[in-house]
Amino acid sequence: MQIQVGIVGAGPAGLMLSHLLHQRGVESVVLDTRTREEIEGTIRAGVLEQSSVDLMVDTGIGERVKRLGMVHHGIELRFGGRGHRIDFADLTGGRGVTIYPQHEVLKDLIAQRLADGGDIRFGVSDVQVEGITGDRPRIRFTQDGAEQQLDCALVAGCDGSRTTTRFLIPSPNPRQDHFRQYPFAWFGILAEAPPSSEELIYAHHRNGFALISTRSATVQRHYLQVDPNDSVEDWSDDRIWSELHTRVAGAEIKEGPIFSKSVLHFRSFVCEPMQHGRLFLAGDAAHTVPPTGAKGMNLAIADVHVLSRAMAEFFANSDRTALDAYTATALPRIWRAQHFSWWMTSMLHRMPEATGFDLHRQLAELDTVTRSRAGRTLLAENYVGTPFD
Ligand code: PHB
Repeated sequence: MQIQVGIVGAGPAGLMLSHLLHQRGVESVVLDTRTREEIEGTIRAGVLEQSSVDLMVDTGIGERVKRLGMVHHGIELRFGGRGHRIDFADLTGGRGVTIYPQHEVLKDLIAQRLADGGDIRFGVSDVQVEGITGDRPRIRFTQDGAEQQLDCALVAGCDGSRTTTRFLIPSPNPRQDHFRQYPFAWFGILAEAPPSSEELIYAHHRNGFALISTRSATVQRHYLQVDPNDSVEDWSDDRIWSELHTRVAGAEIKEGPIFSKSVLHFRSFVCEPMQHGRLFLAGDAAHTVPPTGAKGMNLAIADVHVLSRAMAEFFANSDRTALDAYTATALPRIWRAQHFSWWMTSMLHRMPEATGFDLHRQLAELDTVTRSRAGRTLLAENYVGTPFD
């Protein structure tokens, strides 16, 4: 089978790329080893920047996010026993973020692709990409026991943080991998309870960071910074609630039955370049950010916004200029998000060897950021995200 673009991975990057390409008259096939049920049923966080929501609305997949998404016009930073509101609407000229889980974005994208006659192959295996430095790369895979092959003009590696496509770019030349590991993890819970706060609370405490988030009017999502070696068994419900009350002191945390516990490990990562020959990486296949800045899905969407235009130009005018510039065009935003996510993380988390000096320095930093309008604006602009263009 011949196709213009072969896309490996049906996550936010791959499906959004396929959707945006279709809008620009370019046809693609999307492959994923997971079934549709697995993709739509894996519960994931989602904080969408204004630009991500705008892109969904502008390209005809915004009905549900507009109806079901929860618009937040601020967050609270809590430290030293007090809450400090960062008023996004006031500080960024009316911008905000929308809480709308990733799996809901995926449902919207899958439904739209299928309605538009799009070709998504779920549950395939043995995916192998060949010939990316030639003129006609090929993707081999197995579907329903039969071997298949796709001859493509271009290939997009959108296969997430467990990527195989990234490793097709030879390392260390030209591929450089930039890593930052963190000496802690997040313990995440889902609880049946009403919201504890109208907005997310990011709390600094000498015991470690805590985050009060939400999924719906009846399901809440909270996190505690924990030791990376901790397991779910180390944290009884009583210990979790007690630690949340301590770390988010002064806010009224509403308890309820906890029905999910998990430990999340995270890191900062960027691979450069994000392309080689006719292969182009987007989203987590190329970079990951710690969740503190709520940037992950937005970066994937920003990447494919750039990539879809460049690919469309290539097919319309046989002009590779924009494609060749893909990495250089996408990277500045990625590094800004890396910096922001690292900054939020380092400002709010307790380092394992932290001394009194370190704690007071963090509190002074939080004080500096929240007491001046310039400081709050810097945080707000980065959190709501800069416009795509
Ligand atoms: C979440 O709701 O899971 C969530 C929200 C904000 C973050 C990270 C995770 O920064």
